[in-house]
Parts: sequence; C-alpha cells; structure tokens
Amino acid sequence: MSSTVLILPGDGIGPEVMAQVRRLLDHLGGFDVREDLVGGAAYDAHGTPLTDETMAEAMAVDAVLLGAVGGPKWDTLPFADKPERGLLRLRKDMALFANLRPALVFDALAEASTLKTDLVRGLDIMIVRELTGGVYFGDPRGIEDLPNGERRGINTQVYTTHEIVRVARVAFDLARKRDSRVCSVEKANVMESGLLWREEVQALGDAEYNDVALSHMYADNCAMQLVRNPKQFDVIVTDNLFGDLLSDCAAMLTGSLGMLPSASLGAADAAGRRKALYEPVHGSAPDIAGQDKANPMACILSLSMMLRYSFDRGAEADLIEAACQDVLNAGIRTGDIVAPGMTPVGTRAMGDAVLAA
Ligand code: NAI
Ligand code: MG
Repeated sequence: MSSTVLILPGDGIGPEVMAQVRRLLDHLGGFDVREDLVGGAAYDAHGTPLTDETMAEAMAVDAVLLGAVGGPKWDTLPFADKPERGLLRLRKDMALFANLRPALVFDALAEASTLKTDLVRGLDIMIVRELTGGVYFGDPRGIEDLPNGERRGINTQVYTTHEIVRVARVAFDLARKRDSRVCSVEKANVMESGLLWREEVQALGDAEYNDVALSHMYADNCAMQLVRNPKQFDVIVTDNLFGDLLSDCAAMLTGSLGMLPSASLGAADAAGRRKALYEPVHGSAPDIAGQDKANPMACILSLSMMLRYSFDRGAEADLIEAACQDVLNAGIRTGDIVAPGMTPVGTRAMGDAVLAA
C-alpha cells in the first residue's frame, strides 16, 4: 500500500517553502502526493478557506503537510471566511489532540541563542502538548454578575482519564523513537486534575512502557529548568495551558521562527496509524512573501517529522536533518539566520543546498 500525503501550501511564503519540500519528497520517492488549496488561496478559488472535498481528502490520506495561511488581503473577511478557519477546521475535524513542538538546536546556530552556547548546543527536546481539553475548553465557563455588584470570570480545568492516557501514550511512543525518557508536567501539588494526570501517566508507564524512563515535574519548576538546563529533557508531556507556555519558552531556546517545525496528531486506528498534520510554526510572513527570502527549513524539518512519526522512515528523517546541519555549517543561510559577514541566500538556493547535501 502506497503512502498518501496531502500537501496544502496555503498563502504568502507557504507555497515558496513548500516548493522546496516537494522537491525533497519527489527525491525520496514512495509517496502518492496530492496538492490542494487552503486558506486565502482556497477562498479566492472557491469562496471558502477549506472545501468539503479538501477536508475529505485530508481525512483519507496518511499525513497532511501544510505551509501557512493568512495575509492582509483577507484580513477584512467575516470570521467564518477567514483563512485561519481553514486550519482550525482541519485541526478540529481530524481531532488532533496532541501537539508536538520540538526544540532542536543546530550547532551552527547555537551561537545565536540568547542563552549560553554550551547550554543549548546539541539540544533536542520534544514537547507534547494536549490540545483539545483542559482549561481552554472546560465547563462551566463565562463571566457572571454577583449579587454584591462584582463580576466573576470562570474557567474550569477538566481532564478525563481517557484524555490523559491518549496524549501520554503519544509521548511514550515518541520517546521510544528518541531517547526513551518522558517527563510528565503538571501541578499535582495544587490541582486535582494535575493529581489525576500524574496517577494516570504513572499507571500507563508501569503497565505498558517499562522500557521508557518516566519522571514527573511541577510546571513552574519545568519553566525554570527549561531555561537553566534544557538538555536534561527528552520528551515532555503536559496539558493544554502549561504546554502553551512551555512550548513557546522552549521554542525561543532555538533562536529563529524560520527553523521551527510542528506536528499535530489524532487518534490511532486499528493498524496504529494516527491522523497527522505537519506544519512550520511560523505564519505566512506577508512582509517577505514573493521575494524568495523565506527560510524553508521549518517546513523541511516538518517533512522530517512526518517521515519519522507517520511513516517509520526515521533513517531518511535523520538524513534530512543532517543535510540541514551541513548546509548551515557551510554558511548557507537565509536572511533570518544569517550571521554577521555572511551573504544571505534565497529560498530556492537553500532548497538546492539541502537537496544536494
Ligand atoms: P509570521 O510568522 O508570518 O511572521 C513573523 C515574522 O517572522 C515576520 O517578520 C516574518 O518575515 C518572519 N518569518 C516568519 N517565517 C519566516 C521564515 N520561514 N523565514 C524567514 N522569516 C520568517 O507571523 P505574523 O506576521 O504574525 O502573521 C502573518 C500572517 O500569518 C497573519 O495573517 C497570521 O494570521 C498568519 N499566521 C498563520 C499561521 C499558520 O498558518 N499556522 C501561524 C501564525 C500566523
Ligand atoms: Mg502560544
């Protein structure tokens, strides 16, 4: 059975960076690749940021690769038509409950980090954030008037055992493909949901993942440890709120938006295959769109995550990461990561260099 991939380049720099990914995919071979529209591009062609046909395709393929959506051209559209709605619908209908955000530091860029170089050189951690539950979605919620004339804002942190176990399983499975260590993060000291989180993750680890080293950490300490000594971590699994904060913190350890990939995973089917969407963390960068200036590496590294996590083609993922490393070491850099004294290259030239490496 051939591996099916749906490519959705989107808007702005999305098509520019995705064109480089497409060249790598074609070079690797073995994929049945379809390409379609999302975001503003889909709105212009069909009057909706995501057609039902494209949604159905996304549900049918083994993995979706997305560039970026949005831009000033569509900013004045009503909310339902906005490009971002296309992406939100993909995430919702594919039920992507686990968001994977790696923080990977390439040697050549370690100098650029705001932290001391030796703290981040060789850094390779993965944050798994629960994406569809927790305090952002829990009931009751709202703002209510109190009899004494005050008002009260309410959000509720809720997690069921099912929600905890399924995201923990993603983290344990990832750890097996990495350094076999999981750190589960909550505030079991002050939150009931955190206590349940800790118990359930521990029970799953004991029952099914004895080969993975499991530790637990309070979220506030984790924030401190990420800045103090980030290399102590391999996989971190945490809830929606803590993951929102900790993944942004970890991202900045690496320096540039143009280097950050991500993945969002859904439930596994009977064969163990998960719905999956891979995309760079950055947006459509209207300020540099159409100028051959965008760094394609975030999107290329998203492809590498796809190979590793959707297709068990880890050797090729390693190869792509090594190629990126070589290119950076050779001083071939786009404008966003260029060091003083270097001449920046364009998107296409960066793609050429990675392909050649
Ligand atoms: P952005 O990530 O598009 O750009 C922020 C800054 O980083 C810009 O100066 C841009 O030039 C630079 N940058 C981003 N990616 C780069 C790359 N690959 N290489 C070199 N430089 C890069 O965020 P911004 O400006 O807030 O949003 C622009 C548009 O993108 C908006 O319409 C926004 O809604 C949309 N957006 C879409 C996302 C998605 O599709 N997942 C995520 C974030 C924003
Ligand atoms: Mg955030």
